[in-house]
Amino acid sequence: MHRLAGPVEVGRKAASLLSELAREAAGPKGKFSVALSGGSTPERLFELLASDEYRISIPWASMDVFWADERCVPPEDERSNFRLAYETFLQNVPAKTHRIRGELGPERAAELYEKELREFFGLEGAHSMPRFDVIFLGLGADGHTASLFPGSEAIGEKYRLAAPVHDVEPGRVTLTLPAINHAARVAFLVTGRQKAPVARHIIEEGNQRGYPAGLVQPVKGELIWVLDAEAAAQLTAKS
Ligand code: 6PG
Repeated sequence: MHRLAGPVEVGRKAASLLSELAREAAGPKGKFSVALSGGSTPERLFELLASDEYRISIPWASMDVFWADERCVPPEDERSNFRLAYETFLQNVPAKTHRIRGELGPERAAELYEKELREFFGLEGAHSMPRFDVIFLGLGADGHTASLFPGSEAIGEKYRLAAPVHDVEPGRVTLTLPAINHAARVAFLVTGRQKAPVARHIIEEGNQRGYPAGLVQPVKGELIWVLDAEAAAQLTAKS
């Protein structure tokens, strides 16, 4: 777990993690897959990735960029998770992007994204799962992550990689828990005091309320928490 001063430091930690992992993977494997979260927390990460420091040091041409979730809006809509990343840094680097086509609606967009994931990861069997090199996730104050909201049907999905979500308007498409939990690494980026209670409940109190974010437990991968001081304020020193 990383407890850092503020949102800028959280963004910097995430950028250096991505840079390190991408450089490690780009050699032997020659490719690197990352899924980005939506929301506002990753903005500082994206700004850093646009800076010369990271634009130059990361082997972008070996990188395939996916999303943990997307709102069902056109890509130019200000609510689009793709738009935030694309306009902040992706348009200036040669990474390959795998946009969730939310404008087609939750069902069709989830179906196409599932197909793209299976093709990219070379998945044959209906129960085979993708192994992202890293997935970045945010945390909602209600314990949601990606577009897995408390009580959502999508939480129970056992085999699909991407699921349609109708719990919010506009609808969403989200990676499912199995798709997330088979990643090599999952990194939560969490800032702000309103996240402190749910962060404590998940990290230190065993997630008895079953918040979706607490169900992210990588099967054979690493779970990384990157919090700023406000989000970590209710954690005991030992965490
Ligand atoms: C989304 C995100 C969502 C987000 C959390 C935290 O599409 O909104 O995927 O899961 O990560 O709601 O949002 P903030 O970073 O804005 O607090």
